[in-house]
Amino acid sequence: MQEKLQKLLEEALNSIANANTKEAINDIKVKYLGKKGELTAVLKGMKDVLPEDRPKVGALVNDTRKEIEEALEKTSKDLKAKLRAEKMKLEKIDVTLPAKKGILGHRHPNSIVLDEVERIFVGMGYEVVEGPEVEYDLYNFEKLNIPDGHPAKDEQDTFYINDEIVLRTQTSPVQARVMEQGKLPIRMIAPGRVFRSDEVDATHSPSFHQIEGLVIDKNITFADLKGTLDVFAKELFGPETKTKFRPHHFPFTEPSAEVDVTCFKCGGKGCRFCKGEGWIEILGCGMVHPHVLEMSGIDPNVYQGFAFGVGLERITLLKYEIDDMRLLYENDIRFLQQF
Ligand code: DAH
Repeated sequence: MQEKLQKLLEEALNSIANANTKEAINDIKVKYLGKKGELTAVLKGMKDVLPEDRPKVGALVNDTRKEIEEALEKTSKDLKAKLRAEKMKLEKIDVTLPAKKGILGHRHPNSIVLDEVERIFVGMGYEVVEGPEVEYDLYNFEKLNIPDGHPAKDEQDTFYINDEIVLRTQTSPVQARVMEQGKLPIRMIAPGRVFRSDEVDATHSPSFHQIEGLVIDKNITFADLKGTLDVFAKELFGPETKTKFRPHHFPFTEPSAEVDVTCFKCGGKGCRFCKGEGWIEILGCGMVHPHVLEMSGIDPNVYQGFAFGVGLERITLLKYEIDDMRLLYENDIRFLQQF
């Protein structure tokens, strides 16, 4: 029996020493220590051992089991360490490889131009304010001298929430909202989204952006308006730019004008870009109508002011020579990255 155990132990240790996979180790475990294993078989032979020898033999069987178990444990640990070391070697990180670049978006040309416009006016002491896109008919039309039935209302057809509430057709209602607060003087621009019930084409969209301007103070004259917008045009389109004020009509200003700038492609000589005119229209403006001041609680005998309204898309298209407004709304990154 002793001999048998000794042989079994040798055999087991030998095969453990040669095992180099998890599976092999497991197989050995089953072969010697399993329920139907060889050591168990030896134990079954105990009945043939003399009773007085049994404790000794029993202890021997236990020792053998322990030795086999320990050998299995150690080999299994060594194997794990070896596999791990091999894996680490394969996974070595090359820190000198170039990093993957994240894909960044790009600022929209409208945002670039709006920032530029804000920079220009903030530099002249203006405040940037905002008004609601969903607006009362009262502010969008009535308080701007456009009562029900006025033909100007026809030109700015919009989307009605109900009889009293519309999607604003212009940023001009912000004028009335700011004037009503009663804090004078006022020097503000109000950029924002506006809406009209227009079909989409190269120059129209049912939703676009305007920038409103308003100055109210004592002794404000048309000369202030001209000087301000001239500086604006030169800052935005270049120092050689000239401005021209053409008489026009807006219900909320009197007198009113449209402003043209010299074509920045041909300098005013006339080219394809300005359709041979030499001039390009950029905005509407005027002296705030006394009745508009009165409706917002300002005494026109003490205060005067001027206002202007710029189409943001219009100047973005001009500045970057983009010929189709729809490109501004597609947000194709290949388009946006060009600015
Ligand atoms: N709100 C006008 C429009 O949408 C633009 C405009 C013209 C605004 C003259 C003004 C202004 O403040 O004085 O057509």
